Amino acid sequence: MNQATLHQLKVFEAAARHSSFTRAAEELFLTQPTVSMQIKQLTKSVGLPLFEQVGKRLFLTEAGRELFATCRQIFETIAQFEMTVADLKGLKQGQLRLAVITTAKYFVPRLLGPFCQLYPGIEISLQVTNHERILERMVNNMDDLYIMSQVPEHLDINYEPFLDNPLVVFAPVNHPLAKEKNIPIQRLTNEPFIMREPGSGTRRSVQQLLDEHGVKVKVKLELGSNEAIKQAIAGGLGISILSRHTLMPDSSEFSILDVEHFPIKRTWFMVHPAGKQLSIVARTYYTYLLDAAKKFAEETGFSTYSKLEDIKDEI
Ligand code: PGA
Repeated sequence: MNQATLHQLKVFEAAARHSSFTRAAEELFLTQPTVSMQIKQLTKSVGLPLFEQVGKRLFLTEAGRELFATCRQIFETIAQFEMTVADLKGLKQGQLRLAVITTAKYFVPRLLGPFCQLYPGIEISLQVTNHERILERMVNNMDDLYIMSQVPEHLDINYEPFLDNPLVVFAPVNHPLAKEKNIPIQRLTNEPFIMREPGSGTRRSVQQLLDEHGVKVKVKLELGSNEAIKQAIAGGLGISILSRHTLMPDSSEFSILDVEHFPIKRTWFMVHPAGKQLSIVARTYYTYLLDAAKKFAEETGFSTYSKLEDIKDEI
């Protein structure tokens, strides 16, 4: 490996991540023959093949997978070093990789504006995806920080709760149950129901509550996004259970039904793998978000409400 260069590792990392030399070339603004040549030289230094082609698809060999993991550690260490140096120079700069569950997209991106103004040297990449995908990303160490509602029990992680994420029953604004109080949960069985996709944390919590009370809803539609579900509810296709945060800022088309056992109490957590050393940039964001969440809670009463009435008053 003495002959291998950092440039070759960068090319290899991109090719492995995309499973494609062409896409690696595009990302790095190189020609495809240059990528092939760099990987050929790297393969020679390693002494074992790094890729294998099966049909039209490119796969990593075992040596390739090991090298891919090593590359990630190397680039992580270099990024960390760059940030340390920037910090020594009194600058907060570098990259911040965030991955948040779908419901947090109503809160987190809005706070990124002021954060970026405070720290113009920080570049942010934000992935918004469901619970299952977040877990995959965490296992593969792809981000600095994660925001999720259900902390994984099988992974060694550090986590901190920072804001409530109540799940409530959404219906169109003129729904016949909209004015009723303390609706028995069994009544949900009469309503056409719109459900999130498998792998969604919202779905899992909803299913758990329904199962606990032996309630079987009629799922008319399954949709992979909170926004799509909101459109379907507004269009009169049915009711659903979503995070209260998804209601903001457009609330006029919906009512929240006062069904017993609701809201389902959930919390957003800031999470990172236990062994991961947080970069200075990530630590800066961590502190910033906790502070911003506290202010948000004070302004909206999100973390302190106890009755559905209080939520309804806010709408
Ligand atoms: P989801 O995330 O997008 O996976 O439903 C929301 C949650 O887990 O609260």
